[in-house]
Amino acid sequence: MVDPDSFIDEKIEEISTKIGDDNAIIALSGGVDSSTAAALAYEAVGDQLTPVYVDTGLMRKGETEQIEETFSYMDSLRIVDARGRFLSELEGVVDPEKKRHVIGEQFIREFEAVAEEVDASHLVQGTIYPDRIESEGTIKSHHNVGGLPDVIDFDGIVEPMRDLYKDEVREVARKLELEEIISERMPFPGPGLAVRILGEVTEEKLAVAREANYVVEEELEEYDPWQALAAVIGKATGVKGDNRVHGWVVAVRSVESRDGMTARAQQIDWETLQRIQSRITGEMESVSRVVYDVTHKPPATIEYE
Ligand code: XMP
Repeated sequence: MVDPDSFIDEKIEEISTKIGDDNAIIALSGGVDSSTAAALAYEAVGDQLTPVYVDTGLMRKGETEQIEETFSYMDSLRIVDARGRFLSELEGVVDPEKKRHVIGEQFIREFEAVAEEVDASHLVQGTIYPDRIESEGTIKSHHNVGGLPDVIDFDGIVEPMRDLYKDEVREVARKLELEEIISERMPFPGPGLAVRILGEVTEEKLAVAREANYVVEEELEEYDPWQALAAVIGKATGVKGDNRVHGWVVAVRSVESRDGMTARAQQIDWETLQRIQSRITGEMESVSRVVYDVTHKPPATIEYE
């Protein structure tokens, strides 16, 4: 485990030396990794850093508002509303890898526009050690690792946390006094709710996924999972009121892990599971069934796509 105080001092020094008098940019996702990297880099170079948050429409409930609030102290913060553009690019896309690709490409386009505008020569990234390991393998394309520098030409890439594990990043985040909602937040995938929706991403499925993920995160907080999530996995017959309906099936998943590379499905008590079920089917007319995923990683992955 690194000592957070000396890590922070050392990295601030290193970042200012690397960036010098130039401009830098970072993609903020709201997750602990990019938030910590942004906070470190902002300490180092102030408004020479432009933190960019692209609202893809695939984010968790309240996430955009949270970002606005948390990072409002950074005058250079940019929030790009790209919801409509992402949804229209995703129309008709069902293949999981194609979906990631489409999202990654659109993200790059949005980001590149700001990078050009602010004349950024350096890219700061919140890459951590397990990201590098996973992207070296062929497990799946990780849109937030490697993608940006491959397409946009920067003079320098700054990755202050490239050797840290997630729990070490959280230590650093706490030292930097990032709000708890960020430092303790569960990891969330770059492609967002899109990898928690099987098949085409539509506004209707997104609304179900967003609300169901909110319920699950809230209800399972006490289990302190590495990640707890909900996925829209298809349709099934159900009965709502007096009618037979063909409603959405929501899968609930909660796992323990140290680094996301392997994970164990958590044992959740029946009352909690029933409460989740009744909130999700009760709050959403279009959901007729809720199932709990008991599969570890491997053989399953944490996300559904
Ligand atoms: P899987 O589903 O492969 O996920 O078991 C392992 C960990 O990585 C996260 N994940 C991603 N994070 N971009 C990200 O930033 C991605 O494309 C991506 N895919 C998966 C996942 O949430 C879990 O923590």
